[in-house]
Amino acid sequence: MRVYVSAPGKVTLFGEHAVVYGQPAIVASIDKRVHVYAEPRSDNAVTIEARDLRVPGVRVTYREGEVTVETDYGLVLPAISYLNKAVEITSKYLGSRHGVRLVVQSEMPVGAGLGTSAAVAVATVAAYAYSGGYELSKDEIAGLGWEVERAVQGIASPMDTSIVTYGGFMKIRYSGERIERESLGVSASLPIVLAYVEREFRTKDMVQMVRERVSKYPQLYGRIIEMIGEVVRAAERALLSYDLGELGLLMNLNHGLLDALGVSTRKLNEVVYAARSSGALGAKLTGAGGGGCVIALSLLEKIHVVEEVMRFLCGFTMRTSLGTEGVRVEAGKNLGRTALT
Ligand code: PMV
Repeated sequence: MRVYVSAPGKVTLFGEHAVVYGQPAIVASIDKRVHVYAEPRSDNAVTIEARDLRVPGVRVTYREGEVTVETDYGLVLPAISYLNKAVEITSKYLGSRHGVRLVVQSEMPVGAGLGTSAAVAVATVAAYAYSGGYELSKDEIAGLGWEVERAVQGIASPMDTSIVTYGGFMKIRYSGERIERESLGVSASLPIVLAYVEREFRTKDMVQMVRERVSKYPQLYGRIIEMIGEVVRAAERALLSYDLGELGLLMNLNHGLLDALGVSTRKLNEVVYAARSSGALGAKLTGAGGGGCVIALSLLEKIHVVEEVMRFLCGFTMRTSLGTEGVRVEAGKNLGRTALT
């Protein structure tokens, strides 16, 4: 059957990098989504149409028979390869393969650290299964989505695929294959602005750099990792009591610790400081660092000033509400809008 599925992007509010070392992290879904439409084909082929992936500034490099398409926000071809991998992994899991036409569209830039690859992976897993007449639980979708991310990227935590599947606010912790996910009941939405700074390094490089530092000076960098874990625990309490002032303070503290780990850049720091001086309660880099996104928390009455200042420095900003619904079937033949279980 024909089916249309969407999944949200995400931001890491607290705990990136430390999560790789078994500390908890807090993530939230955002109100920008990736949409995947799937229509079975009578043959066994898989066709992929990318309608709009928000990819301004395209650069194409031809090198020794290899073509790389880069954009201001990251690589395009990898974003598309998540769809093909999702079909491969899902059909293997279901033990049945059918041809499919997939159409993908994104409301946010790909490769900017907003979880678009996880959203594409998760939405495609669900859309492909439904288009073949199969139903998957959210646990299955999150698990298969994580497998897709690992197959394409080589290394990935289950953080992104978990939050885009379940949505909301989530505390997550994992070591090896063991994942603990805890949904956090946050009473109201957080006024957040996101700004994008051109990326100088990939997630993989940043994770590797931190790993080298931690193994060289475990007594120093290991302590920073533990402190980030403490910040996350305090942030959970602040989030549950909706204490925005405290959350801002803890965001600033988390940013300082990420800077000490070496994952911030001069430009990220400039944007963080500019957001704070224009009235934000707190600001930090979000995601792997080395460029990418900054999030700023602000009172609603000041948010337009904070956004203006961030946009002046970066060119690209986005206001978003957090804690939106996770992956869902928007429409399908014989299917209404369906909340997946
Ligand atoms: O920039 P992103 O969204 O890929 O975030 C990476 C988060 C890290 O904690 C640095 C790595 C991970 O796999 O959790």
